[in-house]
Amino acid sequence: MATVVIVGAQWGDEGKGKVVDIYTEYAQDVARYQGGNNAGHTLVVGNEKTVLHLIPSGILHEGKRCIIGNGVVLDPKVFLQEIDNLKAKGYLKDDSQLVVDGNVHIIMPWHKAIDIAREKAATGARKIGTTGRGIGPTYEDKIGRRGIRLSDLVRPEIFARKVEEFLPEKNFFLEKFLGEAPLDAQEIVAEYAAYAQRLVRYLGCASTLLNENIAAGHNILFEGAQGSLLDVDHGTYPYVTSSSTLAGGACTGTGVGPRFIDAVIGISKAYVTRVGEGPFPTELNDAMGEQLRRTGQEFGATTGRPRRTGWFDAVALREAVRTNGMTGLAITKMDVLNELETIRICTAYDCDGKRLETFPRDAEVLSRCTPIYEDVPGWQSDLSGAKSFAELPAKAQAYLRKLEAVTGCPVVLVSIGPRRDETIQLLNPFG
Ligand code: IMP
Repeated sequence: MATVVIVGAQWGDEGKGKVVDIYTEYAQDVARYQGGNNAGHTLVVGNEKTVLHLIPSGILHEGKRCIIGNGVVLDPKVFLQEIDNLKAKGYLKDDSQLVVDGNVHIIMPWHKAIDIAREKAATGARKIGTTGRGIGPTYEDKIGRRGIRLSDLVRPEIFARKVEEFLPEKNFFLEKFLGEAPLDAQEIVAEYAAYAQRLVRYLGCASTLLNENIAAGHNILFEGAQGSLLDVDHGTYPYVTSSSTLAGGACTGTGVGPRFIDAVIGISKAYVTRVGEGPFPTELNDAMGEQLRRTGQEFGATTGRPRRTGWFDAVALREAVRTNGMTGLAITKMDVLNELETIRICTAYDCDGKRLETFPRDAEVLSRCTPIYEDVPGWQSDLSGAKSFAELPAKAQAYLRKLEAVTGCPVVLVSIGPRRDETIQLLNPFG
């Protein structure tokens, strides 16, 4: 039996969905522990593409339990649409395959309205480039002890009372500060009552279920969303998301103790991307950056925004290795580099004339860092068809070994294309 946490080791969009999908084969249960529908996983099964925002990608495997832990924030409308789409494609035949913890916080219409209006009004350094899904404002209310949980939503009187209680303050803020239209309590209550009726069948307790299953010897996969550098505490604050994206979040976001976590696998592209604002030392604002974006199809699964692109950043990766206690690294999108004659790896920064080997803890300092690169030769060949590490071109093998050396973390998986069969496993964390 093993429990494995999957985290994004960069700024999100590392290809976690595919890796989770592959590891799900070995697990009985897959749990999400933070974030909401700001995430987006594009999965390719056969020739069919499925985009998931909230439901763990394990849902595509019959008989696997998918659990949404208390650390997640849930937009009921999006969640139910996702269920409908999955059912229309023949997935989720058995509703007991999906369990949502009663303590998840519900994204309310005012959260979305505030998120969008704030971003619209923000200028300069105050712009975060959020996904506009209401994620930040929902977590603010959770921490501020004025949130609405799923367990409230399914009890009509309690839900209506909370909407009546919280809405006046939200409307005051929306109208008087942000200059937006106020929201109507009765409309919200009616709309959400319909969601509650459908949601109630998925209500459960993530902590009880997962701990029972750990005791029963299940293999369990914890699926992180976003990336380590977007963590609210350890990321490039304030250009972060509002949840604990690191491996530690798997414990607080599901109610499983740290002693039950066996392995932490960080997912990283063979280069780097970022969406939204914030410092990004290896960013390429040139033809090479454009080539990476085009070849890697780097457009957001959730918002469709073009992603910023850059060379692999080992300084940032070492930070993710340390803050997550990473035991293994999964490298995705190797094939995007197939044509390159030379590949650059950032191994240190220059900050005001000083060499920095560690990632600055302050985003303002990071914004003044410029990369110090080591150049390695590209493999300039097609990787498809390679079924093992030994079958990769020697220069591709050398690139991976170099990434291990500069990050201090062993590579356990390499993805050489979007399909499931375009994956090489060097070590299976489930044993
Ligand atoms: P929020 O999570 O919508 O509040 O956005 C905060 C920051 O996190 C913005 O820079 C977003 O672009 C970024 N972000 C949120 N979710 C993802 C994701 O799944 N992938 C990459 N970036 C994300």
